[in-house]
Amino acid sequence: MKRIFVAVVLWALLICPLLQAQVSWKEVAPGVWKGVVGTPESYSLLSVAGVSPRMDGFTRLPEVSLPGLADEIVGQLQDGKTSLRIPLERGEQLYGFGLNFQTVHQRGRILNLHVDHYGGKDDGRTHAPVPFYISSLGYGVFVNSARYLTVYAGSGARKDSPNAPVPKDRNTDKTWTSAPYSDAVSILVPAQGVEIYLFAGPTPMDVVRRYNLFCGGGTLPPRWGLGFVQRTQKLYTDKDVEREVNEFEAQGFPLDVIGLEPGWQSKAYPCTFEWDKTRFPAPADFVKAMAERNVRINLWTNPYASPESGIYKEMYPLSGSHTVWCGIVPDFADARARALFSAKFDKEHVGIGVSGYKIDEIDGYDRYVWPDVATFPSGVSAEQMRQTYGLWVQRITTDLYRKRGQRTFGLVRGSNGGGSSYPYVIYNDYYSHKDFITALINSGFCGVLWTPEVRGSKTSEEWLRRFQSVVFSPMAMINAWSSGTKPWSFPDVTDNIREYALLRMRMMPYWYTEFARYHFDGIPPFRALNLEAGFNPEQATADGELKDKDLETNPYLESVRKEIKDQYMAGEYLLVAPMFAGQTERTVVLPRGDWYDFYTGEYVGNGEKITVKPGLERIPVFVKDGGIIPMMEPLLHAPKAGEKINLEIRHYGKAEGSYRLYDDDGETFDYEKGAYSWREIKVTRDKKGRLKGSISKAEKGKPDNIATVSWKFMSK
Ligand code: GAL
Repeated sequence: MKRIFVAVVLWALLICPLLQAQVSWKEVAPGVWKGVVGTPESYSLLSVAGVSPRMDGFTRLPEVSLPGLADEIVGQLQDGKTSLRIPLERGEQLYGFGLNFQTVHQRGRILNLHVDHYGGKDDGRTHAPVPFYISSLGYGVFVNSARYLTVYAGSGARKDSPNAPVPKDRNTDKTWTSAPYSDAVSILVPAQGVEIYLFAGPTPMDVVRRYNLFCGGGTLPPRWGLGFVQRTQKLYTDKDVEREVNEFEAQGFPLDVIGLEPGWQSKAYPCTFEWDKTRFPAPADFVKAMAERNVRINLWTNPYASPESGIYKEMYPLSGSHTVWCGIVPDFADARARALFSAKFDKEHVGIGVSGYKIDEIDGYDRYVWPDVATFPSGVSAEQMRQTYGLWVQRITTDLYRKRGQRTFGLVRGSNGGGSSYPYVIYNDYYSHKDFITALINSGFCGVLWTPEVRGSKTSEEWLRRFQSVVFSPMAMINAWSSGTKPWSFPDVTDNIREYALLRMRMMPYWYTEFARYHFDGIPPFRALNLEAGFNPEQATADGELKDKDLETNPYLESVRKEIKDQYMAGEYLLVAPMFAGQTERTVVLPRGDWYDFYTGEYVGNGEKITVKPGLERIPVFVKDGGIIPMMEPLLHAPKAGEKINLEIRHYGKAEGSYRLYDDDGETFDYEKGAYSWREIKVTRDKKGRLKGSISKAEKGKPDNIATVSWKFMSK
């Protein structure tokens, strides 16, 4: 008896874990299932992000059942680690795995998901290495682990695969490849168990929506966050900033946020979090005076505390074993460290009206952040801390603003899975315009926002091209403080720069509504064409390769064969195709359906590849047939709560159309108590075939910030 018992225990302990186990699934939100393998760690991305699903948003998605592949997903404990295997089909494409900069199609890639400053290669080391991917077949997978994960996104083939690649002879067969077809995504988690989440579609866009809603819904920035942001030279004084604000006004440039770089602090790298009294003798008065001019102050900081900071002593026992630039690293897994940090920030900044932060250097560069041998008093490992530090700083500061009933919108250099609802935009120092656009595309797959910020530029052409792109992004920002470049620094393009800065402001009703859709429905405001109906690389045949016969029946396939990484969707109706310095023309892939030029309303094509030569003064932007773009007058500052605007509604194309325009006070959380309105805009044809527009009234007692409405039917 005893022997049998011992044998059973041995089997359970040693052999059983080696067996592959099917994952059992539990539905945790509509169309979202959780599976558990082994014993998951309690410290995870979702536990740090601390968000709860936005359940009402799911009601606007189709009902779905557990995707068929759920039965084939297996987990296995081996070598003290957990491996996951998720099957792949031929012709299936994968998107996501975090903020990649050079690739959109992820099938076949091997990644080590690791929070880091992007180093020029899509190898998994990036600012937001979110362990979430979306399949072109309409399902998604999220691995809730705060560990460095190794992902084989369709690389490797098992000898017992029912769907194995066919051996080919390299000597004679030209189709031999060093990367034969693989039938699964494999993920290695260095822990003795993990939670895995499966998201249903039916479409890839629905998968992304479910993911964002599960993470609490996308962020809804304050309206001013969508205005113009300028970051000033690092040693500017209050007077210098004032002069810069005056100059913006004199030049007729919009301005909503001034970002102060390190010199506002008495010491930086490591930081005191305290104002430098020689440069800013009266910070509260300064912030107030700026607010009176409708300019908000955003503060740069990193979280590493200087021995000269007022919180250093108290934080010391609550910090990690290693320093960063001789500053201590708060152990944010400890509530006391969070409370100390947030009390300091509240007293010094938020309490005097600072609008938000730019939280730097939490992503890495291995050479300066804490090494993986560091320890933290909470017992959380250095690795887990690295993977979650960006989530922590966002959570702490977001909570701080929430307590004051005030929305914030800032910048952060690192994030991870679960962060969709945080009011932060990721940026970095990498500065490739092209790759910045690919990052913008990929941000939409992983619940983060990204800004292709404008820094210095060698030529006026580059300056203008970068500027034109940033206007069509989550944060329209110039971060050229170190070169001192101002929007008007290149006189030959200043008028055009101004025109685009003002266009950003004119489009505010559209941008704000698109962010509301992100918040309430999980639809990313900036995203890949791969999430668009009418653009479907599934049409490609086995292994993503097209055969000539496919092209004969559908020439459009030519353009979807390759990954599209230099054009993207901006909101419901716009397709943006940036121009890069040195280019005079480019090709644009239009999804199926009629498309129109944003500036002229002219028809440009349908489901085809077109070539455009826009001239220096235009970034190509196209509008879907029936597209409705609500705009307003070119204000220099975002409208304040209750301020009325004059709405100009543009309609494009021949089709009738509709749009729901969102409105609220733009600053507080009253929308969570129902203080918001959706107004129905409709364009229909009357009996004579003429287009006519209408907009519904705001419900009684709901925000109504529209003074007048005018219509522009752009396509003749
Ligand atoms: C960098 C950051 C820049 C700028 C600078 C200030 O790390 O990415 O945007 O803020 O620090 O020292």
